[in-house]
Amino acid sequence: TAAEFQEQHRPQFHFTPPSGWMNDPNGMVYHNGEYHLFYQHNPDSTVWGPMHWGHAVSKDMVDWEHLPIALYPDSLGAIFSGSAVVDVNNTSGLGTKENPAMVAVFTYHNAEAEKAGRNDFQTQGIAFSLDNGRSWTKYKANPVLKNPGIRDFRDPKVIWYEPEQEWIMALAVKDHISFYSSKNLLDWKLESDFGANVGAHGGVWECPDLFKMPVEGTDEEKWVLIVNINPGAPNGGSGTQYFVGDFNGSRFVLDPQFQADLNARPVIAKVVNGQEGIWLDYGRDQYAGVSWSGIPEEDGRRLFMGWMSNWDYANVVPTEKWRSAMTVARKLELVNTPAGLRVASKPVKELENIYGASESLEEQTVSNVLAISEKLSFNPVTYDLQLDLKPVGPQSSFAIELSNEKDQKVLVGYDVSRGQYYIDRTKAGDHSFSDKFSGVQYAPRLSNDASFDLRLLVDVASVEFFADGGKTVMTSVFFPDEPFTRVRLVPGQGRLKLDSGKITNLKSIYSS
Ligand code: FRU
Repeated sequence: TAAEFQEQHRPQFHFTPPSGWMNDPNGMVYHNGEYHLFYQHNPDSTVWGPMHWGHAVSKDMVDWEHLPIALYPDSLGAIFSGSAVVDVNNTSGLGTKENPAMVAVFTYHNAEAEKAGRNDFQTQGIAFSLDNGRSWTKYKANPVLKNPGIRDFRDPKVIWYEPEQEWIMALAVKDHISFYSSKNLLDWKLESDFGANVGAHGGVWECPDLFKMPVEGTDEEKWVLIVNINPGAPNGGSGTQYFVGDFNGSRFVLDPQFQADLNARPVIAKVVNGQEGIWLDYGRDQYAGVSWSGIPEEDGRRLFMGWMSNWDYANVVPTEKWRSAMTVARKLELVNTPAGLRVASKPVKELENIYGASESLEEQTVSNVLAISEKLSFNPVTYDLQLDLKPVGPQSSFAIELSNEKDQKVLVGYDVSRGQYYIDRTKAGDHSFSDKFSGVQYAPRLSNDASFDLRLLVDVASVEFFADGGKTVMTSVFFPDEPFTRVRLVPGQGRLKLDSGKITNLKSIYSS
């Protein structure tokens, strides 16, 4: 009920576990009209511990119904991250054609084996459900993929590869991705390895994803390989990099232009602290993001969700009953930018299901400060803010400032001297829990447009910033003593022309 989800810092339109610890989204699959979200979960504590798969379903990826825990640790280990598919052709024989099995493919993490000094403590197992994910049976002959003696060997993402009528598993193996194939989800064969010598390597590779996408505005399609990495993200700690290329059922081959972009890194060099990577979200708080499987062809969207935290401080953020939230669901697109082909993200349109009161901002020139939150018909704590603005005269920096009566604030802005967007949470409230939390995060701008098209989704404890149609994305959490209820547009040296603007209240998913 509503009263249960009103604790301090509890997000009002982002997914959170009712209680206990949460990290990565797992097993995201659409089936029989429901979006499933499983997640790394420790039900017994608000810090990371023996992993289970928590479970929730939704009809729109916004409003979630919490379900009982789907997968518990067993004698083979705790249940680490992985994916889920619906075995429509019953290749596994675990279901029937009439009632295909939902199959979860996950990593078993055997802590005892690890303690005993073995290197093969991570293996891949499967479990299946014949009742829309409500009850689960572990496969009797787990693990289905044994460990060859590599300590980091995890996070299987399984997809159906139509041309070969077989399953492909992308697996994170320490510093590269291994691709395995299978006809039945039970027997797996190594096909190839990718990535040991390309991309960012400031940490361990984790949680991969592999999918084909249309290139916006063309008839072309390309493959995208997502690789989460921790640490080694451009602004520190955990982050999501990706590669654009081709996949032939056996090998992932990098697009030559994308390879050149990685080598040249003309735009990102300023923010990556020596890490070579191209990033899906430059903020501190989007990690382990992957996409949904089973989205019907008529829909055709590539839908993505990430964990809204960072291993730098995830275990110590100041919430009491639960820890951490997911990002909103996002639609990914492969678009052309001045820097090359890039993956852009936009909030899913279903977010409109919680749209409340809305107010438009008048077209105007802003030479001082524009108090957006003044005279609104709603209290601006959770909202969708969209601005279209242009610096007047010589280029100008600007910031959108979210603040409270205690003068705690978060700035989301553009720094003209760097040509970069930023989020500054140095004065955002509580940061006593970790010396890695405070600070300014930067991201490249990937547009030469004179106009800045900006969108902010603001919740009680987070902002997701989508700039230039989602070409640059930054996600960041914060913990003010009191909610930010003031929103102001602050120009830098020059003036701003606000061409259009709109602020829409996002209703709490607990309000009805
Ligand atoms: C990523 C990760 C995964 C692992 C899981 C354990 O955040 O480290 O690689 O499977 O979390 O909870």
